[in-house]
Amino acid sequence: MQIVILRDSAEVAEYGANLIINQLKRKPDSVLGLATGSTPVSLYQRLVAANQAGEISFKSVTSFNLDEYLGLDADHPQSYRHFMNQQLFDAIDIDKANTHVPPGDAEDPIAACEQYEAQIQAAGGIDIQLLGIGRNGHIGFNEPSSGLMSRTRVKTLTKATIEDNARFFAQGEYQPHLSITMGIGTILDAKKVLLLATGENKAEAIRATVEGALSAACPASALQLHRDAVLVIDEAAASKLADKDFYKHIEAENQLLQARLAALKAG
Ligand code: PGA
Repeated sequence: MQIVILRDSAEVAEYGANLIINQLKRKPDSVLGLATGSTPVSLYQRLVAANQAGEISFKSVTSFNLDEYLGLDADHPQSYRHFMNQQLFDAIDIDKANTHVPPGDAEDPIAACEQYEAQIQAAGGIDIQLLGIGRNGHIGFNEPSSGLMSRTRVKTLTKATIEDNARFFAQGEYQPHLSITMGIGTILDAKKVLLLATGENKAEAIRATVEGALSAACPASALQLHRDAVLVIDEAAASKLADKDFYKHIEAENQLLQARLAALKAG
């Protein structure tokens, strides 16, 4: 895992956005794996700005979101489809027909999960998968005890996740307790994984992800198996890492190497 520790959430968003911007410059028809939650919001704002400035285009991009509440239709203000339209899709030049979010209103959710996997395959697989992380180490809605090789399926949300997300629902409003989520195996199939985490309340989950055992108890620890996983975190989220200085040292060495390679290329 590449661990990039930055000063604050603004730097995390900037770094993450640049990785995606460079991906789109290299491969304009990239397949993006996208995430909801508070963490990616400012990254999306930077993508919107880059699109509006003509730096990148989403015309040939296909996207797949990680998850959706089961029991909410696409128009529901708390649905992840609605969130994505608001935060990103409505503000960029993407063809909405190429954006995929698991159908929260599927009549047959099990068939819908299989179809979602087939759609990802048909698109050629995900080039870069963006992830947040839950306080309990979940990625997507893969809660602790999720199979490390799991595929897209219906998952029951933990009490902790329901509580964390209650802030988005009005008092007395129906809050789903089930979801459709890509599996951990689905996420691990992405060519590159980009996990963002900011704030003290993610520090324990980040510690378990990086320095804990590979275990379904912390679903994000499965990223230890990935060939190209980048964790971009701020100082607060890094605060419980025992070897923080070593990760910073590695990153400094990485940058020196990149600069040497760039100089070599420039002749
Ligand atoms: P957050 O959610 O970005 O709102 O903290 C992350 C997650 O639960 O995956």
